[in-house]
Amino acid sequence: MAVLKPKVFRFESLPSTNTELARLASEGAAEGVSIVADEQTAGRGRLQRAWSSPKGAGLYFSILLRPVIPQNYWPLITFMAALAVGDALSEAAGVQTDIKWPNDLLSGERKICGILAEAIDTPAGRAVIVGIGINLTQNAFPPQLANVATSVAEATGQAMSHVVDRERILAVLLDALSRWYSLLDEPERIVDAWSNRSSYAIGKLVQVSNGDDVWQGTTSGIERDGALRLRTTSGEIKLVRAGDVYRIRASKNEL
Ligand code: BTN
Repeated sequence: MAVLKPKVFRFESLPSTNTELARLASEGAAEGVSIVADEQTAGRGRLQRAWSSPKGAGLYFSILLRPVIPQNYWPLITFMAALAVGDALSEAAGVQTDIKWPNDLLSGERKICGILAEAIDTPAGRAVIVGIGINLTQNAFPPQLANVATSVAEATGQAMSHVVDRERILAVLLDALSRWYSLLDEPERIVDAWSNRSSYAIGKLVQVSNGDDVWQGTTSGIERDGALRLRTTSGEIKLVRAGDVYRIRASKNEL
């Protein structure tokens, strides 16, 4: 059983907490070393996208993991991170979330948190940086994203005190990460818990795009290694290991 002991370092401003933690990891930082920044000037998202990170608007957090499970199960690391964020938002803020494969946390179908896990080589072996960005206020993202993004402040209808609420969410998140990380050598428990919390695991009509590949179909469960099973419109089962998933609404009139 993996035991995680987070140790948090705080910064006012960094280009990216993931980038800074990768630097520390290459200098030999231990598992559990974590970074929080008040703002990021070059925050990064999945698929080379930028992650807007204005001061006081979000929780910008990264943690270093040195997992011992076989590498083909490493996608479950983002699953366990999504479960931990779900716990933190529920316990610390009363916000219930859905998970969109592979690791977006949604509130009211809009994104409230993104997770960027990056594998890196370090002198002490291959490691993973898990970066978590939680929108605390509506200022976390540009106004043109308001139809697809949301924040803890909007979901709770309450103004956030950046420092107090961020610290409370962070404290619960660290506990939850330690709890879920200890289950990483039991893939079915992670996958079952993830599937129970995700409306995307089974029976969702979606479009999946990965580069030039685009498929449409219905989700039909999660493999033990975290791959999304998709029954395509031609009836074939595809295992999706990378890409973006978009919900397709069944009827043009559906809101
Ligand atoms: C995504 O949904 O595209 C992933 C977003 C991940 C953002 C977080 S914020 C903290 C950490 N540092 C970064 O530069 N990115 C991640």
